[in-house]
Amino acid sequence: MQTMVWSDLLELGHDRIDAEHRQLLDLACEIVAIGDQGGEVGTLRPYYQEFHRLLLVHCAYEEGLLRSLPRSAFGAQVDAHCQGHSRLIALAKSVAAGALPDGYDSPQGFITAYVHLMHDLLVDDAELIGALIREGRFTPTHPAHRAHPVPPAAGRLPPI
Ligand SMILES: [Fe+2]
Ligand SMILES: [Fe+2]
Repeated sequence: MQTMVWSDLLELGHDRIDAEHRQLLDLACEIVAIGDQGGEVGTLRPYYQEFHRLLLVHCAYEEGLLRSLPRSAFGAQVDAHCQGHSRLIALAKSVAAGALPDGYDSPQGFITAYVHLMHDLLVDDAELIGALIREGRFTPTHPAHRAHPVPPAAGRLPPI
């Protein structure tokens, strides 16, 4: 199955968020590779448990930052993004407990849906982190963003 690979285009210019995205993506790729070799949910469980743990920490941190954006301009987008986090967390929680969530009858079907949701969230992150940079909530550290403090347009992000 084709998956996302890390690329500089995914660097948002925020050290912690970039490092966590990279960890999550690497782990998702491992999960896909094991799934491709016929790994069942039971085999994948330790990976999903680690993914769930990392995801909880990451989303809590990111949501703390995003909630600092002015609600008048960004409230709806931030709320929708946080709901996306919640959906991914709920899926990760279910497989971390050793069961495919309702609506998925095969590990492969589930993994495909899972990677698509992750991709959509990363694209959305690029937009919202761009807003944080423009609001002066942090100074980007990635050289490309220091020169042009606007993250890549969502359309330039690598496809799945
Ligand atoms: Fe996010
Ligand atoms: Fe994120």
